[in-house]
Amino acid sequence: MRAMVYRGPYRVRVEEKDRPRIEHPNDAIVRVTLAAICGSDLHLYHGLMPDTRVGMTFGHEFIGVVEEVGGSVQSVKPGDRVMVPFNISCGSCFYCARGMLANCHNVNPNATAVGGIYGYSHTTGGYDGGQAEYVRVPFADVGPTLIPDWMHDEDAVLLTDATATGYFGAQLGDIREGDVVVVFGAGPVGLVAAQSAWLMGAGRVIVVDHLDYRLEKARTFAHAETVDFTEHDDVVVHLKRITDHLGADVAIDAVGAEADGNLRQHVAAAKLKLQGGSAVALNWAIDSVRKGATISVMGAYGPIPNSVKFGDAMNKGLTLRMNQCPVKRQWPRLFEHVRNGHLTPRDLVTHRIPLEHIAEGYHIFSSKLDECIKPLVVPNAA
Ligand SMILES: NC(=O)c1ccc[n+]([C@@H]2O[C@H](COP(=O)([O-])OP(=O)(O)OC[C@H]3O[C@@H](n4cnc5c(N)ncnc54)[C@H](O)[C@@H]3O)[C@@H](O)[C@H]2O)c1
Ligand SMILES: [Zn+2]
Ligand SMILES: [Zn+2]
Repeated sequence: MRAMVYRGPYRVRVEEKDRPRIEHPNDAIVRVTLAAICGSDLHLYHGLMPDTRVGMTFGHEFIGVVEEVGGSVQSVKPGDRVMVPFNISCGSCFYCARGMLANCHNVNPNATAVGGIYGYSHTTGGYDGGQAEYVRVPFADVGPTLIPDWMHDEDAVLLTDATATGYFGAQLGDIREGDVVVVFGAGPVGLVAAQSAWLMGAGRVIVVDHLDYRLEKARTFAHAETVDFTEHDDVVVHLKRITDHLGADVAIDAVGAEADGNLRQHVAAAKLKLQGGSAVALNWAIDSVRKGATISVMGAYGPIPNSVKFGDAMNKGLTLRMNQCPVKRQWPRLFEHVRNGHLTPRDLVTHRIPLEHIAEGYHIFSSKLDECIKPLVVPNAA
């Protein structure tokens, strides 16, 4: 089959690979009909995630058709159209039983922290992902779900990660009626978090980024106020100024460890590798919220430590909440929100790239060219 393959930092290409096979009675093989590139894939693409092995196929946001199932699979059968959460979960361990589907203890030999994720390095189990014609889906009775007839494929694929994560980001913000919510990052995750914040009663939603076209999207898609951090000497002071000098009630970090905006941090992280990325956006969140605020961290940080202003967070009495999104737990609510038009995932899609051209897709998305917000990948076999 044809599959995206990692060759080293900033180098991906499409290669011929063996078609995945059923390795366990709980497995299914899914023929991918649509995949996406996520902001998280960029951390791998940039060589920032430890143990990202050459030869791995990325892709944790995908939908497809069940091709084959193992002997014990009961809830899906060949021919079913399914959406597959980015988390791989066993469904029955201590964590899965408590709904912590992103922290399953049975699917990742390194499972002290995160559980299993498709195509996301050996730190999350070393599973090949869905930017390919076929993918092996373990625990097929747990994750994959039939795509409802009324649901558009492009909504379904974004519900397997970006939309679920943005919504989860707003949920972890514990937003109360009338709250001022600041979202750092106007990528797909931040845009959905901003859109979702209104559903949870926000009184004001402010999105911070430095890419004009994405801030424009924050205004039209999420009806948010916007702040371009490059227009202010100190974006924290500006955010204080526009929030009664107290600060926002809730901040959502939808940037993660590759934040721009602080040269010193950038050099320490990206150039000298002194820390596992730059926590600038998280530190801006800690500085700009009011005392007693809640910060929800959706941006990805790897296992290597970062310089986070923990003392300030402590002394301000902040609540920090975070995790990888337990995607499937969000679906019942999200299906309703998509069905009634409160959430509009497919409005984020800017590019539809044939699998054969995926290298170009990574380049465009990584360099934020051509007003790219969300690139989808269309496999050949579809
Ligand atoms: N927790 C989860 O389950 C989960 C799931 C999906 C994605 N993620 C993470 O969420 C983050 C966002 O994902 P995405 O797909 O939207 O990525 P993206 O790369 O498209 O968006 C990131 C945005 O942040 C902006 N940005 C950079 N530095 C900033 C700063 N200092 N302040 C404000 N904005 C800044 C960039 O310009 C960009 O628009 C990534 O770190 C990704 O790994 C986490
Ligand atoms: Zn993702
Ligand atoms: Zn489990």
